[in-house]
Amino acid sequence: MAQHVRGIVAPGRGAPVEVRTIVVPDPGPGEAVVRIQACGVCHTDLHYREGGINDDFPFLLGHEAAGVVDRIGEGVTDIAPGDFVILNWRAVCGNCRACLRGRPQYCFNTHNAKQKMTLEDGTELSPALGIGAFAEKTLVAAGQCTKVDPAASAEVAGLLGCGVMAGIGAAINTGGVGRGDSVAVIGCGGVGDAAIMGSRLAGAAKIIAVDISGAKLEKALELGATHAINSTIDDPVEKIRELTGGNGADVVIEAVGRPETYEQAFYARDLAGTVVLVGVPTPDMKIELPLLDVFGRGGSLKSSWYGDCLPSRDFPMLIDLHLQGRLDLGAFVTETIALEDVEKAFERMHAGDVLRSVVVL
Ligand code: APR
Ligand code: ZN
Ligand code: ZN
Repeated sequence: MAQHVRGIVAPGRGAPVEVRTIVVPDPGPGEAVVRIQACGVCHTDLHYREGGINDDFPFLLGHEAAGVVDRIGEGVTDIAPGDFVILNWRAVCGNCRACLRGRPQYCFNTHNAKQKMTLEDGTELSPALGIGAFAEKTLVAAGQCTKVDPAASAEVAGLLGCGVMAGIGAAINTGGVGRGDSVAVIGCGGVGDAAIMGSRLAGAAKIIAVDISGAKLEKALELGATHAINSTIDDPVEKIRELTGGNGADVVIEAVGRPETYEQAFYARDLAGTVVLVGVPTPDMKIELPLLDVFGRGGSLKSSWYGDCLPSRDFPMLIDLHLQGRLDLGAFVTETIALEDVEKAFERMHAGDVLRSVVVL
């Protein structure tokens, strides 16, 4: 029997979100219904609301979530009702060329539920990133659920579903930060701060935080940065070189998504260093770099999408580290809010004074 639950719907381009009744069908083959316990508010949810992703309104927002498996469909064996899971928007297929070459982080065929959730009048909903977790329950592909230790609270576990994983993964998976490395992180919002924590976990010796806000830099120092550069006061490229014996950092992580900060990252790396772009640019942005500098500076230029994570490998590991007190995921939760308050959380996000607002259900 289909279930009726409350959820947050973006009805049309730029319009405020609404609490609506959502009809969640019984899970079909390979699908699961998850009872959501917590879901973080991410920039991407706001982009959906503004029509910045596509025009498939109405959207069921929310995609950074953890909860308990409610029902499973035919053929689902990896999870069972009652399991505590984190949802992901990158359920890899195991069969495409990328998967078969042993690089599933580039899988072309990410799985989502085949059936549609609807409004009561039958209008089909588009779940944000194939999840739609600002709702009491949601329908996903079983592969989108990763079982983790239930001792973790849902509000911290859910964060691994998107932004925090993107940042940690940019450092650990994409950047390959290792023991003793010097790392610079440009942009210390939620993603940059997570990259700082990831670098610390990986054993980086120097972690240099760069931002235009003194408050963000203070927080970055609390979370594990060893140095802070305010780029409205100092030239970050010069300062990073100075702090790394004149060489530049082994790994520079750009977590803003702008041409000028990418250029800083490019020149702030060691000749053999790595630049990781995890900030998401807009389609109009361009960079112009002397080709000779691209050639002559060696190293590698990478982008990091979802922190190149493999949920089934990375989520349980990071939750274990968190439970052991080695990864303070709680530091990202600025406030917990009710489902009704998502619109207010978008306003706070614009003001820039939150790392994460987390809806708790
Ligand atoms: N130089 C340095 N820091 C900057 C600059 C700049 N020119 N411009 C902005 N910043 C800082 C802001 O002060 C803020 O601390 O970058 C940070 C951005 O943080 P958030 O807006 O909180 O964004 P976040 O959630 O961390 O995401 C960062 O990664 O996943 C992507 O879409 C996301 O592009 C975004 C980026
Ligand atoms: Zn694949
Ligand atoms: Zn997100």
